[in-house]
Amino acid sequence: MDFKLTEEQIQIRDEIRRFAETEIAPDAAGRDEQEKFAEKQIKKLGELGYMGMTVSSQYGGQSADTVAYTLVVEELSKVDASVGVALSVNNSLVCYGLEKFGTETQKQKYLVPLATGKALGAYCLSEPGTGSDAGNMMTVAEKRGDHYIISGAKNFITNGIHADYLIVFVTLDKKAGTKGVCAFIVERNFPGVSVGKKEKKLGIRSSDTAMLNFDGVKVPAANLLGQEGKGFSIAMAILDVGRIGIAAQALGIAGGALAAAVKYAKERRQFGQSIIDFQAINFMLADMAMEIDAARLLIYQAAVAKDSGEKFSVQSAKAKLYASRVAVDCAVKAVQIFGGAGYLKDYPVERYMRDAKITEIYEGTSEIQKLVIARGLMT
Ligand code: CAA
Repeated sequence: MDFKLTEEQIQIRDEIRRFAETEIAPDAAGRDEQEKFAEKQIKKLGELGYMGMTVSSQYGGQSADTVAYTLVVEELSKVDASVGVALSVNNSLVCYGLEKFGTETQKQKYLVPLATGKALGAYCLSEPGTGSDAGNMMTVAEKRGDHYIISGAKNFITNGIHADYLIVFVTLDKKAGTKGVCAFIVERNFPGVSVGKKEKKLGIRSSDTAMLNFDGVKVPAANLLGQEGKGFSIAMAILDVGRIGIAAQALGIAGGALAAAVKYAKERRQFGQSIIDFQAINFMLADMAMEIDAARLLIYQAAVAKDSGEKFSVQSAKAKLYASRVAVDCAVKAVQIFGGAGYLKDYPVERYMRDAKITEIYEGTSEIQKLVIARGLMT
């Protein structure tokens, strides 16, 4: 078993690390404070090919493997988890879904601009009344000749304000449960699509999270993604990939928290010595370092299983469950190591602590990940 990254993966990691440090880090705190989407930086990431890096080159992507992709999400999230999730959603919840389930025409029309950074995507599953119970949705589609009419509302949509193309899950037949669900590609500019409330959040404050309303939106039948009634399986298969991205985001937050804590603990002196020389502090750092390595291994296990064509739902759920727990634990420990200073906005660790929590909630709560893992044990 080889635990080494390939030369290409190292090159990608180093390039994105430089980009993150020079282009993303300097104003991460300011964007968080002002709840300002990193529009300029996301555009640049698109131009550099990262927004659709996992898409095949024939559709404008980089054909990067999933480990390389997790390295990119991790490095971005080390300095700004809001940028990390914007890239993760575009790559895995949108581009992956289009490449895996789309027709050739859909790929040419929507995937190519999304993969080349000319457009941004969002994934619309959750609704005010349906979060974990995603199959029980209220947004409906009605077939009329060569198009469908979609009505309803989706909430907690990452990239919701800036997205050009949306993958929207709706029901054609509420009584059919998950078997009535269909997926559609909806253009943000289709008449009847509007952005509702922009959410004010505890963390990832510069990620735009919004409600989207669909008021009798006329969608061509050609925009059906996959087949009628197969939308729920498509939603779940896409989330299996998305969860690897969120696990990588969590890993980045944990790594950022550890690096900040080590630096501060070396500099901060109390009782005549650096606080890193106290066991109370260095034992916390040791735990953080170990947890980060363990999370990384679970993430790479899921990424390699996906790229090898094996089943990876359970691996992806384990990676997200564990990495998000590690992110919260490391961020809380980092604040503790900083002491009073950690509670101030002068240092990034309070932001890491606020950002970490969402990784235990979105793209499936920790409880949903446990359910997926437990169901895997039963089959
Ligand atoms: N891949 C493919 N198909 C799958 C699948 C997978 N991983 N998991 C389930 N399915 C299929 C099943 O095989 C089944 O198909 P058949 O009907 O043909 O047999 C169908 O989907 C229904 O499956 P279940 O009976 O397991 O469905 P369920 O209602 O019990 O739900 C669940 C399962 C795991 C709880 C699911 O509802 C779930 O994951 N909930 C959480 C939703 C979630 O993560 N939401 C986050 C939204 S995205 C977000 O956070 C916002 C953002 O912008 C980042």
